[in-house]
Amino acid sequence: MQNKSIGVVGAGTMGNGIAHVFALHGFSVTLADINPDALKWARSNIKSNLNRQLDKGLINQEEVKASIDRINTSVELKDLSNCSLVIEAASESLEIKKKIFKNLDTICSEDTILASNTSSISINRLASSTSRKGRVIGMHFMNPVPIMKLVEIICGKNTSSSTKEMIESISKKINKIPLFCNDSPGFVSNRILMPMINEAAFSLMEGVADKEAIDGIMKLGMGHPIGPLKLADLIGIDICLSIILVLREEFDNPKYDPCPLLEKMVQDRKLGRKTGEGFYKYK
Ligand SMILES: NC(=O)c1ccc[n+]([C@@H]2O[C@H](COP(=O)([O-])OP(=O)(O)OC[C@H]3O[C@@H](n4cnc5c(N)ncnc54)[C@H](O)[C@@H]3O)[C@@H](O)[C@H]2O)c1
Repeated sequence: MQNKSIGVVGAGTMGNGIAHVFALHGFSVTLADINPDALKWARSNIKSNLNRQLDKGLINQEEVKASIDRINTSVELKDLSNCSLVIEAASESLEIKKKIFKNLDTICSEDTILASNTSSISINRLASSTSRKGRVIGMHFMNPVPIMKLVEIICGKNTSSSTKEMIESISKKINKIPLFCNDSPGFVSNRILMPMINEAAFSLMEGVADKEAIDGIMKLGMGHPIGPLKLADLIGIDICLSIILVLREEFDNPKYDPCPLLEKMVQDRKLGRKTGEGFYKYK
């Protein structure tokens, strides 16, 4: 990396966590979102998450302050022009992401690596909206980003070996464990996780068990740290549905038909933690 400036596009659930982690590890971060309220929310969420780490004795007061000082926010993508790595974490929509990649391609220097935190969208398709296919890669962080160790790194068919090495090295610098896979719908994580969440929703909808029992069975029986319905609330029901629809379309297989309960919840804006209600209610 020529400089230590990182751009993050999208200041929602994932973007704020990605900005937090890079800032904590000494990088200057510019966090961009089209919605100024999202930027305001992200700043206050990052502060409270850093303070939570302080209370647990994981970091000290200077690190909290320095991390906050390293984060700038903007509603303009052009403010990412001097970043050596930009990580896109905007809404899970091919159209939105392609547009962002196309714009970043004209704004950023030709050496800048463009990464996407997409959960399921093809890295090859995103790369094709740029003139730098070798410097496009997937960097799939897990939620909550400050806590989860994995970064699933998705290599497109044109991703260069120097890009892979750079992303592996920077992932280690922010204390994450990078594991690589090839570009395929849902990659590894969501190809396996989302059918489980979808089946959990079907089990609830069909009255096989109540939500606490479904989550309890998967926690106690399979050793999962969190049940699938609670996890869906954490991820966001809209995000889960978008990923399942990508699997359905890309594999062209009805086994990925989304559970109607998930579709209804999205229509009713019961999106999980972020809207205060999903399968469970949150204050
Ligand atoms: N939620 C999860 O658990 C999770 C986990 C891993 C990966 N992801 C992926 O991360 C990405 C973001 O997910 P999220 O849960 O943070 O979504 P979110 O809905 O919480 O936030 C998305 C943000 O993107 C912003 N945005 C939309 N269009 C934009 C544009 N053109 N330019 C700039 N900002 C724009 C929105 O204003 C919003 O603040 C998605 O691709 C998702 O699939 C999500």
